[in-house]
Amino acid sequence: MCGIVGYTGKQEATSIILDGLKKLEYRGYDSAGICTIHDGQAETRRSEGKLINLERLLVKEPIVGTIGIGHTRWATHGKPSEINAHPHQAGPVVVVHNGIIENYLQLREELRASGHTFKSETDTEVIAHLTEKQLRETGNFEQAVRLALGELRGAYAVCILCENEPGTLIAAKQGSPMVIGLGDGEYFVASDIPAILSHTRNMIFMEDGEMAVFRDGRAVFSTVAGAPLVKTPRYIDWSPLLAEKGGYKHFMLKEIFEQPRAISDTIAGRLVEEEGAVYLEDLSLGDHELKAVERIYIIACGTSWHAGLVGKFLIEDHCRIPVEVDIASEFRYRNPVVNDKTLIILISQSGETADTLAAMREGKARGGKNIAICNVVDSSIAREADGVIYTHAGPEIGVASTKAFVTQLVALYLFTIKLGRTIATIDKAKGQAMIASLVRIPSLLEKSLELNPQVETIARKYMNARDFLYLGRGINYPIALEGALKLKEISYIHAEGYPAGEMKHGPIALIDEHMPVVILVPRNSNYEKVASNMEEVIARGGRVIAVCSAGDEDIRGKAEVTVEIPRDSDDLAPILLSVPLQLLAYHVAVLKGTDVDQPRNLAKSVTVE
Ligand code: F6R
Repeated sequence: MCGIVGYTGKQEATSIILDGLKKLEYRGYDSAGICTIHDGQAETRRSEGKLINLERLLVKEPIVGTIGIGHTRWATHGKPSEINAHPHQAGPVVVVHNGIIENYLQLREELRASGHTFKSETDTEVIAHLTEKQLRETGNFEQAVRLALGELRGAYAVCILCENEPGTLIAAKQGSPMVIGLGDGEYFVASDIPAILSHTRNMIFMEDGEMAVFRDGRAVFSTVAGAPLVKTPRYIDWSPLLAEKGGYKHFMLKEIFEQPRAISDTIAGRLVEEEGAVYLEDLSLGDHELKAVERIYIIACGTSWHAGLVGKFLIEDHCRIPVEVDIASEFRYRNPVVNDKTLIILISQSGETADTLAAMREGKARGGKNIAICNVVDSSIAREADGVIYTHAGPEIGVASTKAFVTQLVALYLFTIKLGRTIATIDKAKGQAMIASLVRIPSLLEKSLELNPQVETIARKYMNARDFLYLGRGINYPIALEGALKLKEISYIHAEGYPAGEMKHGPIALIDEHMPVVILVPRNSNYEKVASNMEEVIARGGRVIAVCSAGDEDIRGKAEVTVEIPRDSDDLAPILLSVPLQLLAYHVAVLKGTDVDQPRNLAKSVTVE
């Protein structure tokens, strides 16, 4: 993971880099560091822990310069400590890096044998030493970087400075994301768009094996091997305000409240209501290709995988094509049955998740077609996929995914209509009805958000429980999984999601008067079954928090507390059910005093295997 930022221009680099690092802190927050070059001298400040520690250090010991690089770390090699914090320096060469260098042990031994001394335990430090070695041999910074990068195996996005050429910044990428922002006589480098969005919307997305050299107010692009490249900037229409907290206490809460807007934006321009059809602009698969599909895999990680599980219900129900849902890190290491009639749907908010990217490549190598559901424009997965359905959630900063998740559900619903209409399992009238339900969702979500104060009270009541169980059935079972994941990742309370009907085969043994059980029991086709499962919990003394349809007197009479959501289409209930579960996790975490937006050990985009 990790986030990197680079700047060269006329302004003071430190504040620009710090500002960028703040926006990237979701990528890792074990330590942070900054280096600027001034009067030919590199000055570095690093500190363990969150960025605030680095900020405090910089107040005490400021550094100046109009060129600089910075880093926020999620430890892979070497524990979180100041010594392991980036930037790393060898002689005049200073490096920040995101990724993993797989052959670093071998390189380090070779470098040690030729007299290099290492200070940290990181893989990154070998990049600095390799470049320094090549610099001594060639006397040319740019050439030294090319040769050093040529020796690396693994993934990197790097920004490199050199005291011998104090006005030059070099950036290169292989496997880890990198975007370049174009300003007025200035350049910004970052791991992700929000880090530089307040400075420019004109951005260049770097591809694997590419390098940029910024010198004398100019940028020159080439491959790492040295072949010249012409890169075309893209205009990013995300509002910088979306990357700010805007009065909310946490990004997560802001993003929960942005969900109606995120869904409206994801739907906008894609519905052909009178035809009961859907237009997906970047899908790239023609009707004949969709008609040829015999099997679908949905592949993702974490919350995105939960969205995939909902997608299976939608596609199988409406399109009658078998769907398997795989965890990306599992798919790539088994021997999946894929052929040219297989469609693989990758779901990834960040579009950078290493496991999902690798699974996509595996599926492609086996002859499958693919489309990606991504939130980040031009992210690695979006770029490599045959087609894309973008979710328009805007930047998601809170580590726990919320608005990206519900827009993934919308994207899957849109794709279901598209596929069903193409293969004629959904006729015009049904398509129109499905679209009408979807169009109602943003305003129903607004209503669900009114539950916030009530959910906070519930959180207060149950916050000291040691474990939680979440039960759901059918299309809502994945939401039980998602509710449990949200709670555990931000409140550190153990929670499990289970199919309600499966509880009696084991987890029922856990139920006692201390165990809160969140049961998703909206009025839908399996309502009665879930209601019976709820009775089984109550009979064993379990404390039921029921999320049910508005006005359900039966459930009100039985559960310890109810949270009532608007009733609409069964297919879209997962979206409405998600809101109270997100809010419950949020409030429990706030009450317990955990770091909601940056929970321990996690990172927003997991670009390592
Ligand atoms: C949980 C969460 C993670 C991500 C997972 C995949 O709240 O956010 O489980 O869903 O790491 O990330 P993406 O969707 O970026 O591939």
